[in-house]
Parts: sequence; structure tokens; C-alpha cells
Amino acid sequence: MDVLLAVDALQTFYGKSHVLRGVSFEVPRGEITVLLGRNGAGKTTTLRSVMGLVPPRSGRIRFKGADVTGRPPHRVFRMGIGYVPEGRQIFPHLDVGENLRLAERAADGGTPWTLERIFEYFPVLRERWRQRGRSLSGGEQQMLAIARALFGNPDLLMLDEPSQGLAPRLVRELETIMVRLKGEGVTILLVEQNARMALGVSDRVVVLGKGAVVFAGATAEFREREAELKGRYLSV
Ligand SMILES: Nc1ncnc2c1ncn2[C@@H]1O[C@H](COP(=O)(O)OP(=O)(O)OP(=O)(O)O)[C@@H](O)[C@H]1O
Ligand SMILES: [Mg+2]
Repeated sequence: MDVLLAVDALQTFYGKSHVLRGVSFEVPRGEITVLLGRNGAGKTTTLRSVMGLVPPRSGRIRFKGADVTGRPPHRVFRMGIGYVPEGRQIFPHLDVGENLRLAERAADGGTPWTLERIFEYFPVLRERWRQRGRSLSGGEQQMLAIARALFGNPDLLMLDEPSQGLAPRLVRELETIMVRLKGEGVTILLVEQNARMALGVSDRVVVLGKGAVVFAGATAEFREREAELKGRYLSV
């Protein structure tokens, strides 16, 4: 398999608090990998470690074959990782167009993300073009956050709980968008509490329990052990 991202034995701390205790997993190119785990398991910290926002104390992160461990976030972004953080974090005082342009990065392969292509996926952003981030609904902000990450032409898109707070109709729209993105060659690492949605779109599953990987395998393998894994490591 063609591994796009490989995380190996990450140990990450917040001050004295030891959060990631040897996290290792791989994200194959062209697939959707979902990272599941209870509140506080370390899902967000894992994405932040990859992104260089909380550099790991030890361990290795390889992306497209290059060692990116401890690189600052802007350099990780330049390498081709798009990150949609928990809570979206779009710029409230900038309009939709300004929010998007801040994240522009040239593609180094594949079809570049033009505005036309962005609007095809997120027609609502065309309608809201001149509106400031803060005046958008929660769902529109989430779409803007994803669109902004795509505008950086990422090889890997990391999404932290994108379905949080969305109405069921928007969660289904999000599922469709992720599957379409995968069809166009975008590799996705998705963090979700909504296991039902995540398992519906994922090829592979990684489960974190208290800072360590307790399961990694194909979604079909997860399904075979679903009751046990959910009972032990996920909130039901
Ligand atoms: N900035 C921080 N400073 C200190 N401790 C933190 C910080 N951020 C997270 N933690 C702690 O690290 C642990 C892992 O948190 P993390 O946010 O990675 O979990 P998570 O799996 O994303 O949880 P959730 O499902 O609630 O988003 C938790 O015990 C949390 O309290
Ligand atoms: Mg989190």
C-alpha cells in the first residue's frame, strides 16, 4: 500500500501532562481513515502533533516520504496538509472570499482547486461571497472551513469533528462531499465522535484509547469487532 502519512511512536505532552503515549498508525493514499476515541483520548492532540502545533517530544511523522516531525505549522501546510480544526476557526471579520484567499497554495499535482470547483462543492459560498465569517450559520462556517483547507490544494485533508453541531441533513451532505473528494484523489484523515457517520464513509479505522492506538484496521475488520471495541473504547 502507498502510505501518505506515517505516524510512529508519538509521545506528546502539554507541560507535564503526558497525552500521547506512543501513537503509531498509517494513512494510505487515496483512502478515508477515521480516528475514533472517547473524549480526551488524544484525537485532537494527534492532529495537532502532525500539524506541528504541539510538536511531539519523541516519535516520527513522515509525510510523502519526508520527515516532517516538529516542523512549524506553516511548513507542514506548505507540504500539502490541510487542517480543519475543531470549532472551524474561520476569521469572523473577514468575508468568505478573504477567508479563502488566505489559504491559497499552489497544487503540486492533480487538478488545482479553483473557485469554480470550490463553488461546485459548496454552492452556498458563492451566495455568501461578500458576507463576513461571523454572519454565516454554523453549517456554512463548516463548509467554508473545509473549502479553505481545499484551496490549499492538500494531498491530505485532516478534519476534526466536522459533523459537530450540524443538522442531520448537513451531516449527510458532508458525507457526500467526503466521498466525492476521495473520488478525486484527496486522502482524508477524519476525527469523529459520530461513529455511525464515520464508519459509513471510512476505508480504515484507528481507535485511540487514552493516548495509545488500541485498534487499527480495515472498516470491515472493525465491524467484526464493533460491539467489543465500542463497549471498551467508544462512547455509545
Ligand atoms: N492545551 C492543553 N493543555 C493541557 N492539556 C490539554 C490541552 N489540550 C488537551 N489537553 C488534554 O489532553 C488530553 C487529550 O485531549 P484531546 O483534545 O486530544 O482529546 P480528544 O480525543 O480530541 O477529545 P474530544 O473528543 O473531547 O475532542 C485530555 O486529557 C485533555 O484534557
Ligand atoms: Mg478533540
